[in-house]
Amino acid sequence: MRLPERVTICEVGTRDGFQIEPDFIPTELKIEVVNLLSDAGVPRIEVTSFVHPKVVPQLRDAEEVMTGIRRRPGTRYAALVPNDKGAARAVDAGVDAIHTVVSASESHNLANVNMTIAESIEKLRAVMQIAARARVPVGCGISTSFGCPFEGEVPLARLESVVARLVDLGAHAIGLADTTGMANPRQVARALERLMPRFPGVDWVLHTHDTRAMAIPNILAAMACGVTSFDASIGGLGGCPFAPGASGNVCSEDLVHCLHAMGVETGIDLDGLIATSRRVQAILGRTLPGQIVKAGKWDRRYPLPDGVAARVPSR
Ligand code: COA
Ligand code: ZN
Repeated sequence: MRLPERVTICEVGTRDGFQIEPDFIPTELKIEVVNLLSDAGVPRIEVTSFVHPKVVPQLRDAEEVMTGIRRRPGTRYAALVPNDKGAARAVDAGVDAIHTVVSASESHNLANVNMTIAESIEKLRAVMQIAARARVPVGCGISTSFGCPFEGEVPLARLESVVARLVDLGAHAIGLADTTGMANPRQVARALERLMPRFPGVDWVLHTHDTRAMAIPNILAAMACGVTSFDASIGGLGGCPFAPGASGNVCSEDLVHCLHAMGVETGIDLDGLIATSRRVQAILGRTLPGQIVKAGKWDRRYPLPDGVAARVPSR
C-alpha cells in the first residue's frame, strides 16, 4: 500500500463543527477548545469564520475568539472567509492564513454565499489582494467538489474549471471539499489523477464529511494519489448549514488513530486529542460520532474472563 510517511492535519471543528450548533457556545469555551487542540500539537487549526453574523450567528464572535486564543509556535491559525469583507476582518484579527470558499455547483454556491460562482471568483480576487498585501497565505476550498445535495454528482469537468479559475487567481493550495459526503474513493482518485498532473504547482487538501461513512476510505484513496493534507473535526463535529443532509467531518482522533496505527506520522498527541474530544462532548452535552473515544485505541486490552488465563497455551 502506497502511504506517505507524514501527513498534515488541519482541525476544522471549531469552524465547520461549531457553525451548526443550535445553542451559542460561549466565546471562552470556544477559546478553550482551540487552546486544547494547540496543546495536542495540531499543526493547523481553522479557528472560526468571518462571515455575515446574521447568516452564521454561532460564529459572530470570530474576532474575540481569534484574538483570545493562545498561539502555540508551530501551529498555523486560519479562518474561513467568503469575500473581501471577511478577509479584511480576518487580517485585522491576526490570522496566520485565510481559507476561502466557493462551490463547484452553482446551486450550492447561491445557497451558501448568495453569489454565482463567477461572482464568488471576483470576490476571491479581492480576497487574494488583501491577503497578499498582509502577507497572509491563502488556501482555496471548493465546496461540493464531488457532489451537490441539490444537483447530484458534480461532473469532473466542472470541478476542473473552478480549479482552473482559482489557479488563475494565483491559488497555490486548493482544498477539495466533499460537503455532504457524496464522494467515493474511486471518484476521489479519478479526480486527483486528472487534476494533479494538470495543475502541478498546487498543494492539494481533501476536506471530507463522513455522512455516508466514506471519509476515511476517501482519504486513503487520496493518500495513494500523493495527497498529504487533510481536514478533520474533533469528535466528528461538522456540517454546512446551507447543505441539507450535511453531517460531521471525518473525526480527527479517529483519523489520527488510523494514521498512527499504520505508521503515518502527524505530529499530533493522540491522547491529547482524545481528551479534547471528551471535553467537547462535555461542553456540548452529548455524545459525538467519533469511535475511538468509545472503543479506545487499537492496543487496548481487556482482562481475560475467570479461569481462561490458566488455560491459554504459552506462545
Ligand atoms: N462579514 C460581515 N459582514 C459582511 C460580510 C462578512 N464577511 N460580507 C458582507 N457583509 C455585510 C455587508 O457589509 C453588508 O452590510 P450592510 O448591509 O450593513 O451594508 C451586508 O453584509 C450585505 O452584503 P452582501 O455582500 O450583499 O452580502 P450578502 O447578504 O449577499 O451575504 C455573504 C453574502 C457571503 C456575506 C453571506 O452569504 C455569508 O456570510 N455566507 C457564509 C455562509 C457560510 O458560512 N457557510 C458555511 C461555511 S462554507
Ligand atoms: Zn465542511
